[in-house]
Amino acid sequence: MRWIDTLEAAAAEKLPEAVHRYFRQGSAGGVSVGEATAAWSAYRFRPHVLNDVSAIDLRTTILGVPVDAPILVSPSTMHRMADPDGELAMARGVGAAKSLLGVSSNAGTTFAELGATGVPWWLQIYILRNREITRRMLDAAVEAGARAVVLTVDTPVVGRKEDDGETVWDLAKPGQFLANLPEGEWTDDDLDKADDLNPDVIGWLAERTGLPVVVKGVLRGDDAKRCADAGAAGIIVSNHGGRQLDASIPTAQALPEIAEAVAGTGVELYVDGGIRRGEHILAALALGARAVFVGRPALWALTVDSSAGVTRLISELSDELDHTLRLVGQPTPSSLTPDLVTLRR
Ligand code: FNR
Repeated sequence: MRWIDTLEAAAAEKLPEAVHRYFRQGSAGGVSVGEATAAWSAYRFRPHVLNDVSAIDLRTTILGVPVDAPILVSPSTMHRMADPDGELAMARGVGAAKSLLGVSSNAGTTFAELGATGVPWWLQIYILRNREITRRMLDAAVEAGARAVVLTVDTPVVGRKEDDGETVWDLAKPGQFLANLPEGEWTDDDLDKADDLNPDVIGWLAERTGLPVVVKGVLRGDDAKRCADAGAAGIIVSNHGGRQLDASIPTAQALPEIAEAVAGTGVELYVDGGIRRGEHILAALALGARAVFVGRPALWALTVDSSAGVTRLISELSDELDHTLRLVGQPTPSSLTPDLVTLRR
């Protein structure tokens, strides 16, 4: 059996049930989480033959950061429930693979500790109702060397998870998450997400931090264009791993429209959600993504074998991408074009 396919079951053996459920679950009826991977598997390739594929090169840059392959790790929280070293172990694994890590603003490790690893990382931020907390988190991330700010825009309210019994929140100890809340007296209301945002927030973030802003959670071409016009440097096509609006369309389906909408703007496009194999990555790159992010597989790999597991995950996905590039007749990700892909009929 393919090692990547063994990870979730092996992680489930090690994790408390509530944590396994938290990592795997989607919101509401679980429609989006259930169909994400199948939507990638619905693409079919129109390969070239008689092309020289003797020298495959997966290296690229992500907003100027060199990476060994266009395979990056999505921001997620509660890493300390998967591994005692939490985000630090995740960062070390990502660093050894010469990749890049998205760090959740709910992370259980301080930005300063993450910065000290030297691994390139992006801060994922939610704009909170209390802007002072948001400002101070941004300043701390800049100080700690974040290379970009990822603004998650699909969460004006948190998607409902249909939990029974004990939840991850019951199990988590203080300090295992929300390690970057600034000192102070905050009420729960202050920590609510702002639900009154508009595209001007992109310019505000860029100005406040001096960093490129990547908007995460876009599913429509017209919204992607609004983000580009407002100064976004990157867009992550994402439905939050099916954890926000349930039954929102699969990212595999949203990507082509968004690639068309931002063509020529200079915005770098990325995608996440259900990406589990080299063929899925190949389809995403051909349809206009510069890189893909993986979420849950990195959590399973971290649980199973700490940083070594994370490195192995990225390395095995890279090997699969290398292999599929040879079979589709293209030597580099940048030589991939949309005509290589069609939908199953
Ligand atoms: C997430 N995700 C997420 N996204 C975000 O912007 N901020 C966050 O704090 C979190 N937290 C989080 C926790 C857990 C347990 C999961 C599984 C996911 C969403 C994440 O960044 C990403 O969009 C999806 O996980 C991608 O889908 P796959 O690869 O998990 O299918």
